[in-house]
Amino acid sequence: MMNSPTPELLDRVHRETATDMVRQLSNVEKASLCTGRTFWELQGVERFNLPSIWVTDGPHGLRKQQGDSDHIGLSDSVPAICFPTAVGLASSWNRGLLMAVGEALGQACVAEQVSVLLGPGVNIKRSPLCGRNFEYFSEDPYLSGEMGAAWVQGVQSEGVGASLKHYAANNQEGHRMVVDAVIDERTLREIYLPGFEITVRKAQPWTVMCSYNLLNGTYLAENHLLLTRILKEEWGHTGLIVSDWGACNDRVKGIAAGLELEMPGNGGIHTPAVLAALACGELSEAQLDAAAIRVVELILKSRPALERNATYDRDAHHLIARRAAEESCVLLKNAAGLLPLSKQENVAIIGALAATPRFQGSGSSQINPTQLDIPLEEIRNLLATDNPPPFAPGYSLTHDDIDQQLIEDALTLARDAGTVVLFAGLPDSYESEGFDRNHMRLPAAQLKLIEAVMRVTDRLVVVLQNGAPVEVPFLDQVGALLETYLGGQAGGSAVARVLFGEVNPSGKLAETFPLRLEDAACHDWFPGEPRQVQYREGLWVGYRFFDTSETPVAFPFGHGLSYTTFTYHQLRDAETDLPPEQVDSDQLGEWDGLTVKCDIENTGAVAGYEIAQLYIGADTHSVYRPRRELRDFVKVWLEPGQTHTVVFELGRRGFAYWDKDVHDWMVEAGDYRIGIGASSADLRLSCGLKVLSGTAATPPNPALQAYLEPGKRTFDTAAFTALLGQPIPKVNPTFPYHPNSTLGEIRGTFIGRKLHKLVLRSVKEMVPDEVDEKLDRILGAMLGEMPLRNLVMLSGGKFPPWLLTLCIHLMNGQYWHALKTLISRGKR
Ligand code: BGC
Repeated sequence: MMNSPTPELLDRVHRETATDMVRQLSNVEKASLCTGRTFWELQGVERFNLPSIWVTDGPHGLRKQQGDSDHIGLSDSVPAICFPTAVGLASSWNRGLLMAVGEALGQACVAEQVSVLLGPGVNIKRSPLCGRNFEYFSEDPYLSGEMGAAWVQGVQSEGVGASLKHYAANNQEGHRMVVDAVIDERTLREIYLPGFEITVRKAQPWTVMCSYNLLNGTYLAENHLLLTRILKEEWGHTGLIVSDWGACNDRVKGIAAGLELEMPGNGGIHTPAVLAALACGELSEAQLDAAAIRVVELILKSRPALERNATYDRDAHHLIARRAAEESCVLLKNAAGLLPLSKQENVAIIGALAATPRFQGSGSSQINPTQLDIPLEEIRNLLATDNPPPFAPGYSLTHDDIDQQLIEDALTLARDAGTVVLFAGLPDSYESEGFDRNHMRLPAAQLKLIEAVMRVTDRLVVVLQNGAPVEVPFLDQVGALLETYLGGQAGGSAVARVLFGEVNPSGKLAETFPLRLEDAACHDWFPGEPRQVQYREGLWVGYRFFDTSETPVAFPFGHGLSYTTFTYHQLRDAETDLPPEQVDSDQLGEWDGLTVKCDIENTGAVAGYEIAQLYIGADTHSVYRPRRELRDFVKVWLEPGQTHTVVFELGRRGFAYWDKDVHDWMVEAGDYRIGIGASSADLRLSCGLKVLSGTAATPPNPALQAYLEPGKRTFDTAAFTALLGQPIPKVNPTFPYHPNSTLGEIRGTFIGRKLHKLVLRSVKEMVPDEVDEKLDRILGAMLGEMPLRNLVMLSGGKFPPWLLTLCIHLMNGQYWHALKTLISRGKR
């Protein structure tokens, strides 16, 4: 029997075939291949029998649009299983689960003839306010990368591709299309890139999607450093880079920088510029060929799955979604073992979100679920009694006003109940792709309701549905607090099972819940100015800041309770079985070489998962460093009384920092501390470790004093300049206007107002008659923040490039240039 070819051999064959095909194409054909055919399809090449393949949004389900297309969740898509969003999945800390979800998504892609699923998003949650935090995994790069890699491996095991996004430094929605993220090299390497790096190195996503924004002055879509030097050359990415939808600024520079595919299709508006660049030598034919080859390779890789006539089992996938939702639940507080509830309990259910759950986020990831489990119904089904728990909405989901009558009705139920389960959370209009949140509070009407209910019962369970942290001013007075995030289509049954003990919750926070929004170190610098955001806080993101500066939080990173208890014993070197004492960093691999282990015992009465986390901190160091950083984690299932030995793997990178002067990872010799425990703030075992070899620690740079004392938050201009190693770039003025001026910026001009109206009219054709608050905010941001160049791209030829140039000259009062543009229009 013949062995099937190895992936490496297949890749080689694809590369050779693609190279051969591209050699036979004209330059026009090559340029055209490097741009999509439609909103969701790539170009094929008929004479080579290369199909035009589909890519589709996700990531927590398929958003395959067969009718109208859009990238903000307006038009319908085929029914698909809706899994919990990334923040929930990451709270599972379960690589195997992420892989299973990925496999299910991959199977759905194959069944729907989709070749690439656009996800996962591994951007770091710099601020709790980023509108898209629900779609990202964590504030920690290691956890993000591990989750991203497992997800990609799962999807790609089915013969379809993933698209790792949004590369990079896309940590806010505000002005995401034009904002320049100013980040120092060390912070970029230690915080904002490793999630991508780990996913690329471990899982080789077929595609990586570059983000809209600029990084240190250059659009990601034409950023040679990020796309070619780091992604392709350093990390060895062999797949293709695709632009986010409409992220292409200068197509020629993009190809030269390594951006192979531009999406969505735009009728080839950039082909003339590409040909002209070839003619004058600005772009070489080899550069265009390299791009076209990667596009053909992607199509070749996709072909076998398209030829499979597959379906998938919706019921089985619904159960995977339910398991994922269960493992996404984080039990934040459980005073006096209030949870789990007994099925005999006299329970009242309060909160509109129990009957109309928020189960996914808004925007391009919004999918059309095959079914939806409603928490209220699922609780009633689970209890199966003749006396189902009564329900009162308590607040409205369509407006924020406090409705006293709704509160009174809820109180009537609460007074009669033994226990109240109150569902609260963020409505759609609070968080979405397209805009950031303004604050971290729950809606006022919900807070009022919680306050009122707290006064009539001392057995109150609050269940949260939200995509990012919220302030919990009521924490001290509630008995239990269960974070369910956005649980997907099976979130309703999952929460019912957790509340009543059919499932023991095991999730742990993949992000910190600050006490107050102002406590986050980036607070004064988020989201920055429309055209520039300075990442002044440097490495002080999430727990790295709270922990090091000893700023109290509501819930620390990695926190999550269980219905059982776990004890940790004996931290030791996995090889010698003795406490680890020293390690020679020269003997370590990048990611492996040192293994440590400990025993975990389930000391409670029920079986459950524990997520054990390993953190490393440096005691001696010449650069500023967080007190501790997550370097590995293990999730283990334990029956009551059972003990299991868990093993952690560490390499050089566990001890390293990025040295901006040598542009490389460095390990300093000296004393480090390993801590293992149940959260970043609950380390149960720890030991010192001497690292030998490596560089010698020197006195810290006094210019960076502000970063050594993060609690003072004096990240002023002088400190940030020192961190950047160069002056902070000046923000470009809004005038004179240019193709990257936004519709908002030109609104003061006559032409600007006309263009705004025109775009509004065409968008209105796509939206329902009744625009709700969420859609209103998305559209407002979309229109105001859209760069003018995208008018050309989205117009399908009705607004050609010369017309844009003409409008810009007119708005700038450059009438002579305007006349010349008019005369020579369409000639290039
Ligand atoms: C989003 C991407 C998405 C794309 C296509 C963009 O606006 O940022 O995440 O994949 O649209 O819908």
